[in-house]
Amino acid sequence: MDTVCLSPRKPLRLILSLLFLSLSFSFNNASAQADGKKLFKQKCAVCHSMKEGVKITGPSLLGVFNRIPQGDWFVNWVLNNDKLIKSGDKYAVKISSFDVSAMTVFESELSKEEVLAIGEFIKTGGGDEAPSDCENPFAVTEEEESNATLYVLLGIISFLVLLIAVLRTTKHSIRNTLNEREGKPLNPEMGFWPEAKAWMGMHKRFVALCVIFVLCIGSKAAWDGMMGIGVYTGYAPEQPIKFSHKIHAGDNGINCQYCHSGVERSKTAGIPTVNVCMNCHKGIEGSCGWMKPEIEKVRVASGFDGSGYTKPEKPIEWVKVHNLPDFVFFSHQQHVKVGKQECATCHGDVQGMHVIEQKEPLTMSWCIDCHRKTEVPGMKDNPYYEQLHAKLAEKYKGQKITVDKMGGIECGKCHY
Ligand code: HEC
Ligand code: HEC
Ligand code: HEC
Ligand code: HEC
Ligand code: HEC
Ligand code: HEC
Repeated sequence: MDTVCLSPRKPLRLILSLLFLSLSFSFNNASAQADGKKLFKQKCAVCHSMKEGVKITGPSLLGVFNRIPQGDWFVNWVLNNDKLIKSGDKYAVKISSFDVSAMTVFESELSKEEVLAIGEFIKTGGGDEAPSDCENPFAVTEEEESNATLYVLLGIISFLVLLIAVLRTTKHSIRNTLNEREGKPLNPEMGFWPEAKAWMGMHKRFVALCVIFVLCIGSKAAWDGMMGIGVYTGYAPEQPIKFSHKIHAGDNGINCQYCHSGVERSKTAGIPTVNVCMNCHKGIEGSCGWMKPEIEKVRVASGFDGSGYTKPEKPIEWVKVHNLPDFVFFSHQQHVKVGKQECATCHGDVQGMHVIEQKEPLTMSWCIDCHRKTEVPGMKDNPYYEQLHAKLAEKYKGQKITVDKMGGIECGKCHY
């Protein structure tokens, strides 16, 4: 039995598992640092930069560990600065007296480990070490790809036309050579149309079939065009600034409402003003080469000169993606707050999109189909809707109360 343990495989296995251990250890380390960076951008970058002397709402955190007390102070401060100040901690009282604006309490959002990871990131000096040649997701667009297939198609068609022309002249000259040999008069060069007409006269049935085929395709396209008035599924226009939803709402986990603050309280979701962008971009210049000029456009639009807003502000002219006609009434508040519908149901996986694209048709039948099959959720905190829903529940005992049952398919609800 002991001899088995001494088999030559054992040291190999030991070395392998040691290697694996150290690998996974360094992986863990790397991910803790990456998390720290991500968390810093999500939670702290709104108020703190990592640039020397750049104050946003709070001071720059570059080298902050050289001035704050050692030990648990950092963790205690970040988790609950309020409590630390009230406990009479000397340094906490001192810095909060400089500054009227208070820092957020993070107790409910961050764990101790996460705060420590943020601390590790701050100690690295702020991540300007990031490579400047990271991949630019805006570099290749699908439009270019579909253009490529178009060019190939055009190429094939012009090749075929050329081939027909060559065959036609060859046929003509062969016939003339034959005529010449047999002593017949030469065939005059016939125009294209007279020749085509003569050919069609000889192949009547084939021509009739072709005409029917073309008519069918044409009317189908016309029908699709008519049904698709105002339908722009897949519409994804180029924007004046290459702003990525994936990087903001996906990778950095910024809440939709942070920028589209209207969704819960008004008809429109709203596009954020450049001031909202500058909450972060006063401090964030972008870690990749391709980002810097795009973020610079944001700063120029806000009139930022590097330290203050001294230049004139120029609003960014975003291109609207979703467009309902003016005679349709649609309210985000009604759908998001009252109807409890997710953004993704109507806008798709925005967190995964670099460029926003219209995913749903926004036609009348699209609205009505959903109203027919979606149940109306209750609303405990709003007496008006509670009462309405209670009445409906009584009227439709035991049935599902869908939006159409409360009038959601009456013309007047959606049309002014
Ligand atoms: C809403 C703005 C805001 C956010 C968000 C914020 N801070 Fe602060 N922070 C401040 C302000 C303002 C101060 C200055 C002290 C004061 O007034 O309370 C400060 C002070 C600090 C200090 C002490 C600085 C010094 O010079 O001694 C540290 C450390 C700190 N914050 C870390 C963080 C970390 C880490 C995060 C993210 C988890 C964060 N802060 C998020 C506003 C914020
Ligand atoms: C809550 C913070 C925050 C806000 C608000 C914010 N950004 Fe950003 N932005 C970031 C972070 C983090 C990055 C990634 C930087 C990096 O990886 O180096 C970034 C990157 C960018 C980039 C480069 C990457 C890309 O998306 O193309 C652009 C351009 C940009 N932001 C524009 C904007 C605009 C325009 C607004 C306002 C509508 C805005 N940002 C609002 C945090 C923010
Ligand atoms: C950092 C700010 C920011 C965040 C966070 C953000 N957006 Fe946006 N959003 C914008 C800006 C700026 C535009 C206009 C430019 C564009 O269309 O890309 C926009 C455009 C849109 C549009 C298209 C508007 C139109 O013209 O029809 C939709 C839909 C949208 N956002 C949904 C979302 C959803 C869903 C989320 C959350 C998952 C989200 N956004 C998070 C800034 C943001
Ligand atoms: C029931 C479907 C539906 C849901 C749910 C929904 N939207 Fe929309 N959204 C639309 C329609 C339809 C439009 C076009 C409105 C127009 O053109 O008047 C739109 C337009 C927008 C726009 C363009 C600006 C504007 O206000 O017209 C933004 C930004 C937007 N939505 C963000 C969001 C976000 C963020 C959420 C989630 C919190 C969300 N939407 C949830 C259907 C929806
Ligand atoms: C994903 C499903 C969904 C889609 C798509 C949708 N709706 Fe709705 N809609 C709802 C729900 C759920 C409610 C019920 C909200 C409530 O409880 O009052 C609602 C309610 C409404 C109401 C109020 C009805 C009433 O009786 O008060 C209007 C108006 C409306 N929607 C218009 C539209 C329009 C216009 C569109 C298309 C552009 C649309 N909706 C697309 C789910 C949807
Ligand atoms: C749930 C919302 C909703 C209801 C209810 C509704 N419509 Fe519409 N209607 C729309 C939307 C959205 C469009 C725009 C469609 C587009 O742009 O393709 C539209 C477009 C139209 C148009 C323009 C023609 C077209 O297809 O573009 C007419 C006419 C119309 N509706 C009539 C009616 C009548 C009549 C009723 C009542 C029987 C009604 N609608 C009920 C949402 C609604």
